Amino acid sequence: MNAPDKLPSPLPSTTPASAEPHVMKTYGRLPVALSHGKGCWLWDTEGNKYLDGLGGIAVNTLGHAHPKLVPALTDQIGKIIHSSNYYLVPLQEKLAAKLTELSGLTNVFFCSTGLEANEAALKIARKYGHDKGIDRPEIVVYEAAFHGRSIATLSATGNPKVQAGFGPLVEGFVRVPLNDAAAIEKVAKTNSNVVAVFLEVIQGEGGIRPATIEYLKQVRRICDERGWLLMLDEVQCGMGRTGKWFAHQWAGILPDVMPMAKGLGSGVPVGAIVVGPRAKDVFGPGNHGTTFGGNPLAMRAGVETMRIVAEDRLIDNAAAVGERIRSGLQREWSGLKGVVEIRGQGLMLGIELDRPCGALLQRAADAGLLISVTADTVIRLLPPLIMTPAEGDEVVRILAPLVREFLNGK
Ligand SMILES: Cc1ncc(COP(=O)(O)O)c(C=O)c1O
Repeated sequence: MNAPDKLPSPLPSTTPASAEPHVMKTYGRLPVALSHGKGCWLWDTEGNKYLDGLGGIAVNTLGHAHPKLVPALTDQIGKIIHSSNYYLVPLQEKLAAKLTELSGLTNVFFCSTGLEANEAALKIARKYGHDKGIDRPEIVVYEAAFHGRSIATLSATGNPKVQAGFGPLVEGFVRVPLNDAAAIEKVAKTNSNVVAVFLEVIQGEGGIRPATIEYLKQVRRICDERGWLLMLDEVQCGMGRTGKWFAHQWAGILPDVMPMAKGLGSGVPVGAIVVGPRAKDVFGPGNHGTTFGGNPLAMRAGVETMRIVAEDRLIDNAAAVGERIRSGLQREWSGLKGVVEIRGQGLMLGIELDRPCGALLQRAADAGLLISVTADTVIRLLPPLIMTPAEGDEVVRILAPLVREFLNGK
């Protein structure tokens, strides 16, 4: 496509990625070691080329080696990487101003990962409750949700596999099914300890399952009536991926608390919790902190990512290329038994099959496409927002026959 077939590798060819005797086995990895990339293309240490349909799991907003990001980060590394939250960090204010302007919220705390942002949200909710005189605050969470791997965030997560072996879990969560209006109304009527609702606008790890616009509006209304915080986890679905800066903007609502991370730094770890008037004064001095969060390198990555996304109109691009991939796949598979549903928005797409499909990871890689499979049966696409229409067509060209053959038992 737009990139040459082979780039000179910056790394010498190494042994396969599976040969990692000293790395803890927390991931089932493909035997592929990626060494470098350009745009939406990646190369492994053996010189094989891949189209990036995964974006580092929704992280590489600007793809790889972006010509505007690389010089900015190089400049920053040459000035200062890390100072400390003991001192003013002007780039924090710059990124916070951008995030609040675009979200309509008011204040930001910076951290480094999604789970940290969610952990901060859970702490805000609890303290918000204590400040109101609720001694045992509870938070509404969802079936099939994913919020991270710390003890508190895995307790909020609605996936028994993630939780297995880590009990006792953190208490104080009330779990309901997504998009079930009656279930949350019932909690509102019967549980006076609830202080917040915590949900992903589009469940990512749970299989690309969107909250409906009506449901989001209903939850906003209930939160207002009850004085609860609406906390929307935009770690995966935020940062322009769905065709709006933040996925909840499709519903025309404002959250009180919005944790985000992943795509914010385009690969440099950046997390943030963006809050509105109801939550902004909950934490006081000494209530929360982090060593790395908000360091100048991370903040520069965030500032430049947001600048480039806006300058290059990547949000509109995500909407258009996402729709192109979706309609291309629909066309290719029309009448094909075994494709249950194509879900999602923009460049956050899930294709649910009628059977477990983890085997497709390797097959797709062999065919030159990186994808993910989540919730056992859902192929997930989260490519960089810079993906061109031609590259979107290439995703369809590679994926469509693979899935057809897989469903035909080949
Ligand atoms: C919606 C959501 N929240 C939180 C997390 C956790 O983020 P991290 O892996 O950066 O801790 C993830 C990660 O996949 C996520 O998808």
